[in-house]
Amino acid sequence: MKFLFSSIGQKIQIAFSGIALAVFLLFHLFNNLVLFTGAENFNNMVSFLKSIHLLVRILEGGLLFIILLHVINAIFSTIKNKNANNGQYAIAADTAPRNSKTMIWSGLIILFFFLIHLRYFWYTFQIMSNNTNYFEIVLKNEFGFLGHTPTAIFYIIAILLISAHLKHGFISVFKTLGIPVKYRDPLIKYLAFIFWGVIPSGFILIIIAIQIGFIN
Ligand code: HEM
Repeated sequence: MKFLFSSIGQKIQIAFSGIALAVFLLFHLFNNLVLFTGAENFNNMVSFLKSIHLLVRILEGGLLFIILLHVINAIFSTIKNKNANNGQYAIAADTAPRNSKTMIWSGLIILFFFLIHLRYFWYTFQIMSNNTNYFEIVLKNEFGFLGHTPTAIFYIIAILLISAHLKHGFISVFKTLGIPVKYRDPLIKYLAFIFWGVIPSGFILIIIAIQIGFIN
């Protein structure tokens, strides 16, 4: 138990919960790519998910737990580092990657995006009855939805931040898990690229397709 709250224990918790969140994003992208196949398929998919509502609730509970594990450990670990080093980073400034210092800030902005996203998408989907046109909700030209250009721009900025956060996150995960340097380069190049390059591009593609009317 004590190990979990040690600095390395916290890093391991951040690493594993981060990997789980990245895997969630992969599934979430697949779900949303259905938007390209038209309203009927998308609405059927959402109705199906509503019909297995208990299982979805259990998965959402698990997701919430993982998010809390990631965010709380990240915040405590940052505070601990700051206190231990009187505001300075643990390694000399020129050797600490610039990105590592901004992880907590990109993380907090992503958390803000997350809350907006849940308020407008998740919550709206919850309160709708079963034969709603969910597709139309996603495309609405109203704050919080993707037909609305300022919201779309906010989403794209948040997704770019998520991409940068994931890129640095994966480099840290490989270090935390002690993966030998000779395996790190190909892993970062190919596996991590799927998560920080391909998946965010997929989300951005959906948003652009909605904005230019390709998904309509
Ligand atoms: C094109 C971009 C996106 C679209 C169209 C989209 C769409 C949606 C929709 C429709 C829901 C409600 C699902 C339901 O309740 O049945 C949802 C929930 C959710 N989204 Fe997104 N999303 C996008 C991007 C993202 C990103 C980038 C993240 C991660 C940072 C994210 C995280 C979540 C989470 C955690 C939930 C709640 C869990 C769930 O019920 O599946 N989404 N999203």
